[in-house]
Amino acid sequence: MSTIKEPTKTVLITGATSGIGAALLQQYNNNGFQVIACGRNAIQLNMLKNQALQTCAFDITCAAEIKANAQHVGELDVLILNAGNCRYINNAKQFDAELFNEVITTNLTSLGWLLKYLLPKVKPGGQVVFVSSSATILPFPRSEAYGASKAGMDYLAKSLRLDLVEHNIGVSLVHPGFIKTPLTDKNDFPMPFLLTGAEAANRIFKGVQSKKHYIHFPKRLTLLLKLFSFLPSSLWQSIILRKHNA
Ligand SMILES: NC(=O)c1ccc[n+]([C@@H]2O[C@H](COP(=O)([O-])OP(=O)(O)OC[C@H]3O[C@@H](n4cnc5c(N)ncnc54)[C@H](OP(=O)(O)O)[C@@H]3O)[C@@H](O)[C@H]2O)c1
Repeated sequence: MSTIKEPTKTVLITGATSGIGAALLQQYNNNGFQVIACGRNAIQLNMLKNQALQTCAFDITCAAEIKANAQHVGELDVLILNAGNCRYINNAKQFDAELFNEVITTNLTSLGWLLKYLLPKVKPGGQVVFVSSSATILPFPRSEAYGASKAGMDYLAKSLRLDLVEHNIGVSLVHPGFIKTPLTDKNDFPMPFLLTGAEAANRIFKGVQSKKHYIHFPKRLTLLLKLFSFLPSSLWQSIILRKHNA
C-alpha cells in the first residue's frame, strides 16, 4: 500500500531577520515548512536566502511596499505577524507624540495593511498568529506607547478570530514574557525569567500547531501577572511603583 505524502506547508513570518522571528524561521525550517522570510534589513535577508523558500523586503508601515511584495506570495498555511518595535516614554509630562505615533504605526496600524494584502493568501484550515506581549496583562511604567499598541493588537486578534470562523481560519494570540533579542538587549531594567529566542519559537510553534487561541510563556511570569491583575489597581500600582523606583 502506498502512503500519501502530505503537501509541504508554507509559513510567512514578518520580522524574520532578527530575534524571535529569526528563531521561528529556524523552528519552522526544522519542522519541514517552507518559509517566506520578511524584514527590512537587506543584508540579513540575503543571508537567509538558503534557509527560506522566498525572502521579501518591505517596511510594514508602507502599504505600497506590502502590496507589491504580496503579489509574489502564494497560498499560506500560517501567517505570523511578528515584526514590531518597542520604545519607552521617558518623560510622561512632556509626552513624546512622535515616538507614540511611530510605535502605534509600526505595531498596530501596520496590521491593517498586512491583513489587507496577506490574509487573502491564507488557506481555509490555516492560522494567523499575532505576536503581542505579556505587557498587556498589566500596565507598566513608560509603556504607554508599546502597551497601547499591543493592547490594540490583542483586541484586533480576538475580534478577527470571531469573524474568521466562517472562513475556517484560526487566530492565535501570543503573549511572550522577556525574550533575549536585540530588542530587549537595550533594556536597562531586570528581566525576570528571560528565555532565549529558540525557547520562545519552540513554544509558539507547538501552540500554533495545536491551533491554540492563546499562547503565553513563561507561565511562571504570565500567570503571576494574571494573578496580580486581579488585585485592586491601587495595590498593584503601589507594588509596581515601589519596584520601579527601587
Ligand atoms: N523580545 C521580547 O522580550 C518580546 C516580548 C514580548 C513581545 N515581543 C514582540 O516580539 C516581536 C519580535 O521582537 P524581537 O524581540 O524579536 O525584536 P527584534 O530582534 O528587534 O526584531 C524585530 C523584527 O521586526 C522587524 N521590524 C521592525 N520594524 C519593522 C518595520 N517597520 N518593517 C518591517 N520589519 C520591521 C525587524 O526587521 P529589520 O531588522 O529587518 O528591520 C526585525 O526582524 C515584536 O513584535 C515584539 O514586540 C518581544
